[in-house]
Amino acid sequence: MGIEPLRDGHGRQIGDVRVSVTDRCNFRCQYCMPAEGLPWLERAEILRFEEVAQIVRVLAAMGVHDVRLTGGEPLVRRDFPQLAAMLAGIEGVQDLSVTTNGFLLQRDAQALVAAGITRFNVSIDSLQRDRFYELTRRDALDRVLRGLEVLSGYPEAHPIKINAVAIRGFTEQEVLPFAELARRTPYEVRFIEFMPLDADRAWTPEQVLTGAEIRAAIEAVHPLEPLPRDLHATARVYRFADGQGRIGFINPVSEPFCGDCNRIRLTADGRLRTCLFSLNETDLRGPIREGAGDAELEQIIRDAVWRKELKHHVGEPGFVQPARTMSAIGG
Ligand code: 5AD
Ligand code: SF4
Repeated sequence: MGIEPLRDGHGRQIGDVRVSVTDRCNFRCQYCMPAEGLPWLERAEILRFEEVAQIVRVLAAMGVHDVRLTGGEPLVRRDFPQLAAMLAGIEGVQDLSVTTNGFLLQRDAQALVAAGITRFNVSIDSLQRDRFYELTRRDALDRVLRGLEVLSGYPEAHPIKINAVAIRGFTEQEVLPFAELARRTPYEVRFIEFMPLDADRAWTPEQVLTGAEIRAAIEAVHPLEPLPRDLHATARVYRFADGQGRIGFINPVSEPFCGDCNRIRLTADGRLRTCLFSLNETDLRGPIREGAGDAELEQIIRDAVWRKELKHHVGEPGFVQPARTMSAIGG
């Protein structure tokens, strides 16, 4: 590589980029999108595959070795496996993963594994059909579970993670069923605290069911033991004391992990975001379409990353929710 690593003004080295490949989604999760959907980006506004690949190539040359593909729902982007294969082939990309709602996994699991995706996060917020429908506004639990099963047939895709957003008043009933799932399957279930990135702007701190509360509820039945924390990991992972399965907690609200954040994000329309909660972003699509070469792109990215936010201010007085919702940022 030989190039200077990508660093922010607080000394953090950036090693991970989350790339949103589309703002569209076939679900309408309550905590993410309104029932009627959102005004979608025009086709011309969305980065073409070559444009995404150019940005990832420039990032990878600066040491950004982990690439996570998200949406909206990434699998609704036409020819998505082809994009995945292009990115998997970029020198310096060591880890290529995808976050999906699982709806199209039966169709695409094989192509995605063949393209070089090695890690999958599947979002499931309830294991009960009616409650799944209530939260996602789609009656699709069975289909998602079948997709998960197809995926689990590929050893290259393990470990598979299931993400559940933790919302007070909803998730309490899901905690033990998910713990049992984590015990009887190879899936690692992870609870993510509800964050103020919802379209309805209805988030309040009281609606966050914290990781500590969920853990206490599980420990009342099944004792847990902490596993050593991977550097930069967002999740605190535990194993069940009897050795059967693991469970993780992503606690961005109650225990922010900004201090060692090594992540940046690229939106489907080519904006670089240095934080989930950034209030400003840096356009990369404009310069690319005006013919910027790799060196020029590198400089724009370095300048933007230098100004990466020290931390988020969720739950503090004066916090301002970004204009984009989670679906338009990419988890
Ligand atoms: N708070 C926490 N997690 C969210 N996700 C979407 N919206 C929110 C929110 N407001 C999750 C999805 C998925 C990942 C991309 O982000 O459920 O697992
Ligand atoms: Fe779609 Fe994911 Fe948002 Fe649900 S959380 S509406 S699956 S983008």
